[in-house]
Amino acid sequence: MIYFDNAATSWPKPPGVAEAMTHFLNEVGANPGRAAHRRAVKSGHILYDAREAVCGLFHAPDPLRVVFGLNVTEALNLALRGLLRPGDHVVTSSMEHNSMMRPLRALERPPELCSGGVEVTVVGCSPQGVLDPADVEAAIRPDTKLVALNHASNVVGTLLPVAEVGAICRERNALLLVDAAQTGGAYPIDVQACRIDLLGFTGHKSMGGPMGTGGLIVGERVDETQLEPLMRGGTGSRSEYEVQPDFLPDMCESGTPNVVGLAGLQVGVRWVLERGVEAIRAHEVALTQALIGGLRSISGVTVYGTLDAELQTATVSFNVAGMAPSEVGLRLDDEYDIMCRVGLHCAPTAHKTIGTFPDGTVRFGLSAFNTLDEVEAALAAVERLAQEAR
Ligand SMILES: Cc1ncc(COP(=O)(O)O)c(C=O)c1O
Repeated sequence: MIYFDNAATSWPKPPGVAEAMTHFLNEVGANPGRAAHRRAVKSGHILYDAREAVCGLFHAPDPLRVVFGLNVTEALNLALRGLLRPGDHVVTSSMEHNSMMRPLRALERPPELCSGGVEVTVVGCSPQGVLDPADVEAAIRPDTKLVALNHASNVVGTLLPVAEVGAICRERNALLLVDAAQTGGAYPIDVQACRIDLLGFTGHKSMGGPMGTGGLIVGERVDETQLEPLMRGGTGSRSEYEVQPDFLPDMCESGTPNVVGLAGLQVGVRWVLERGVEAIRAHEVALTQALIGGLRSISGVTVYGTLDAELQTATVSFNVAGMAPSEVGLRLDDEYDIMCRVGLHCAPTAHKTIGTFPDGTVRFGLSAFNTLDEVEAALAAVERLAQEAR
């Protein structure tokens, strides 16, 4: 079996992830920060270790400014709905996932509706998914509060110039929110060097963790007193008050956290750090280069994106002439034991940008665990399907 659906969620997980989760369930199991007994203290340590691991991966200075949640979708909703007010302007790109685009479109509703009245400018990218920082700069206005971008497209893998945009945002006094769903653990990210003010991450892709883990890193330039939590409730802190604590991360982390998941995430992130993000990146670039080169040499196959492995993640979108993406995916699964994803990948605007809307593409999403042999086997399978369709 060849698993090429890592852009949706990674599999397998690094060694030790499942064991850490089982250990938590069997040997710890307590609610962190809710009691003073040994098990609760241990649970709190695991939670804090996970914050430190995330800071290590993204070079974030303060573990207490890591807000954990279910996934990056929740993190982006927190950043967008928590910071934007009627009259604010936001700049985003035409390569965004719906987890950025849908909350933004909801914020555009009339101001009398709950969290509406925000103006959104979508900056167009090239058909390869490339964003020109000068276009972002031209779109920024005096009332622009936020520039919100993904770090890499989940459709074609194209990397967006977040460091260049970060510098522009500082000059123009806007905040930069980055969706690192596709790059966290797969591409080096330094939130301080790139001047990223808010970084949303999801634990279940290249960070090696389980589903149900993710979060938002809230940078020092973000005034947390202006960040409206998505939910309020028990935090285990300031329990004498009926009002929500006003400090991070508690103000944005109501209810019992997913410590079993975070125990796994912590091990996944530490595995990434031990192996080295640069080494993982080099391995994935080599696989991506082979995959793009091989696909391009097959008659009847169209590959999308920059066609340069250095400019993208290990996510490659393509189509086979004369065959719907859904048929390609089904036959790769049924006849060749290859798991991939087909269709629009929750990013309709990105498909409009690259010219593949509404049918979408076949997407191979590779990870640190894939091999060149697997790439070659998949290329041979696509070659046979393309031959039949010719
Ligand atoms: C770029 C991007 N943003 C957001 C998401 C949403 O991730 P999650 O479902 O983990 O919230 C994904 C997942 O595919 C993604 O690729």
